[in-house]
Amino acid sequence: MHPVVETQGLTKRFGPHLALDGIDLSIAAGEIFGYLGPNGAGKTTTIRILAGLLQPSAGRAAVLGLDVVRQRDLMQARLGYLPGNFVGYDDLSGEQYLRYLANLRGGVEWHVVVTMAKRLDLDLGRRIGVLSHGNRQKVGIVQALMHHPELVILDEPTTGLDPIIQREFLGLLADVRDAGGTVFLSSHILSEVEAVADRVGIIRDGRLVVVESVERLKHRAVRRMDLTFVGAPPLEVLSSVAGVREVTSSGSTAHLAVEGSTAKLLAVAAPHGIEQIVTHEPDLEEIFLAYYERTDRLA
Ligand SMILES: Nc1ncnc2c1ncn2[C@@H]1O[C@H](COP(=O)(O)OP(=O)(O)OP(=O)(O)O)[C@@H](O)[C@H]1O
Ligand SMILES: [Mg+2]
Repeated sequence: MHPVVETQGLTKRFGPHLALDGIDLSIAAGEIFGYLGPNGAGKTTTIRILAGLLQPSAGRAAVLGLDVVRQRDLMQARLGYLPGNFVGYDDLSGEQYLRYLANLRGGVEWHVVVTMAKRLDLDLGRRIGVLSHGNRQKVGIVQALMHHPELVILDEPTTGLDPIIQREFLGLLADVRDAGGTVFLSSHILSEVEAVADRVGIIRDGRLVVVESVERLKHRAVRRMDLTFVGAPPLEVLSSVAGVREVTSSGSTAHLAVEGSTAKLLAVAAPHGIEQIVTHEPDLEEIFLAYYERTDRLA
């Protein structure tokens, strides 16, 4: 089976500026893929090429097995797309606007729109022009999903959504995947997508720094632990264990940051008499930032 999204050496120049520098990506059907990176990294540029709105300078991209340049129209008809700067039509109500798009596209069951609007707490009767940024974003989300496209591409969809709506929105994406669809979404923040994404790619300065499953990222994430010993904590012994990144202490408690498995650490520490172990959930944000730092050092 074709990958749903496939890019090879995808490159984009704006004049002398290299916005994308040879992006190789492959996303399978039924995946939720989070595309992460800081401001100016190239997320929107990638997404606009995938949506057929911008032509690459070099390399190629195929979506649903269709070339995004040569077979653009066929490809776009099978896509759901939320641009980063979604505005809609100020003078129309949410309902008027969505009915208009539904009639243009066909294949939309109105009750799907109503249910989605309810889940997102969106009042379809209000004029788009008077909606807050977050509520306007909800109209954009509904138009991207309402026709059950095989692939949904969303550029920073969670911007402006409050935490409860954000969770509801991630639930909608999980429904897309459960129905066999594929989702590609960009974000600045890993924690916004980690609950729902199967894999994430981190882009920086137009280059993919890493593509990894969220599960593996979690496994490699730095985990914080507090070990309380019967006597004084054996700090030197602890800091010599592979994977231990940081050791400090207060009284008989050692505070550690550990990358990967903690089994080895516990085996080494046990003979010294452990009274209490407290482990904290790994913070993915830390590993996310570490990738940025690492590329900084390489640059
Ligand atoms: N039309 C354009 N003309 C010139 N430069 C552009 C154009 N569009 C994007 N760029 C540049 O390409 C780089 C990538 O921009 P892009 O919008 O893809 O970043 P992004 O990852 O979406 O950032 P953000 O998180 O701020 O949305 C930036 O340096 C940007 O200034
Ligand atoms: Mg952007």
